[in-house]
Amino acid sequence: MAPASPEHLRTFPLAPPHRPRAQPTANGRNGGATCGAVVTYRHAIRAGWKYSVFPFPYALGKMAPGRWVMMFFALSLSVRLTAALEPFTTSAVLIGAASTAYYYFSCRFQECCTKAWVPLDVKGLETSLKEQLFGQHIALDVIPKAIEGFLSNKDAKKPLTLSLHGWTGTGKSFVSRIIAESLYKNGMDSKYVHKFVTSYHFPNVQHTSKYIQQLQDWIRGNVSLCKRSLFIFDEMDKMNPELIDSIKPFLEYYNHLDGVVYRKAMFIFLSNAGGEKINDIVLDFWQRGMKREDIQQKNLENSLSLEVYNNKNSGFWHTHLIDKYLIDYFIPFLPLEYKHVVLCAKAELYTRHLEDVDQVAIKVAEEMVYFPKDQRVFSVKGCKTVAAKVNYWTAADSKL
Ligand SMILES: Nc1ncnc2c1ncn2[C@@H]1O[C@H](COP(=O)(O)OP(=O)(O)OP(=O)(O)O)[C@@H](O)[C@H]1O
Ligand SMILES: [Mg+2]
Repeated sequence: MAPASPEHLRTFPLAPPHRPRAQPTANGRNGGATCGAVVTYRHAIRAGWKYSVFPFPYALGKMAPGRWVMMFFALSLSVRLTAALEPFTTSAVLIGAASTAYYYFSCRFQECCTKAWVPLDVKGLETSLKEQLFGQHIALDVIPKAIEGFLSNKDAKKPLTLSLHGWTGTGKSFVSRIIAESLYKNGMDSKYVHKFVTSYHFPNVQHTSKYIQQLQDWIRGNVSLCKRSLFIFDEMDKMNPELIDSIKPFLEYYNHLDGVVYRKAMFIFLSNAGGEKINDIVLDFWQRGMKREDIQQKNLENSLSLEVYNNKNSGFWHTHLIDKYLIDYFIPFLPLEYKHVVLCAKAELYTRHLEDVDQVAIKVAEEMVYFPKDQRVFSVKGCKTVAAKVNYWTAADSKL
């Protein structure tokens, strides 16, 4: 494995290289792109001026009447002021007005850390989860409330930290994507959403100290750019505990660190750690004839945090994130049953506008492997591979 180079930092998040991003400098300050730089073709298209040759008439045309009046007053005032003041002040006033106007216009077309680009739509999040997430009543209940509570608190004492645990294919990455799409207009493509995958970004344990430096610089630089940044860490169970602990200062109850405020940022950790424990508890409920929906967050939260804290292979082994109570919510993802796999298959078929939805969904669910072997209750791969099986069956059907 090639050692991590300074270039590694530039390619850190999964983002196209041309996208303007915060580039932390050696002194830790954000020396990178700021809102309102270059208006690119891509942004122009997204903003809707594909039919406009010159962008400003279009933008002005869309301005509310109130803004027109304000702009007129501001202009006439600055003309009168410039006449009254000496040249130095005049230049300062004009430069200030020009840069404000530039910021206003560029943020119409290019992603900025403003409400238009970071709408933080919690109601939309709740609706999307209700419609798209199957069999995860705890996540459905806890996640929107946790995020809404955090975002509505103007004086949050620390960043929000959610730790999502569960067996493979139960919807952890899926939910993190829905969260990003609801909170940021550009979803996972937003320059304020940063996803790290351990096996991709931190593959070599020997380079841990370098990764720590790069990761801390990255978080510092990007939170300086936008306080409402979202950091998603996937495969936490594979991450070196030392590297996990290096995130601790950012999650603490600090007003600011070196002048940077982290209290409005959000951190989501995804992990398979504790998945077996969750499965055992859910299986026990099932064997005792109890309803899945009766399993509460409190039935699982304590045993889950203890399990991941004491498990040497969990990534969270004896981490200060847990023993300093810096994780706000441990959210268990339950193993999915046959009926949930059918729903996943149907959802996949609906998005492709295919017919015979019920028939194909049942074929797909029948093909999956379930555990325990004799009772076939929970899907071994959750809803993972459902999309591939839908491909197979729809292709097979179309050939008939
Ligand atoms: N509970 C669920 N409800 C609806 N769809 C789901 C659910 N779980 C999984 N899926 C579907 O299966 C796909 C794979 O799931 P996802 O990648 O979220 O699993 P995961 O929990 O992140 O697994 P892993 O631990 O292996 O990363 C999703 O993109 C989604 O289409
Ligand atoms: Mg995943």
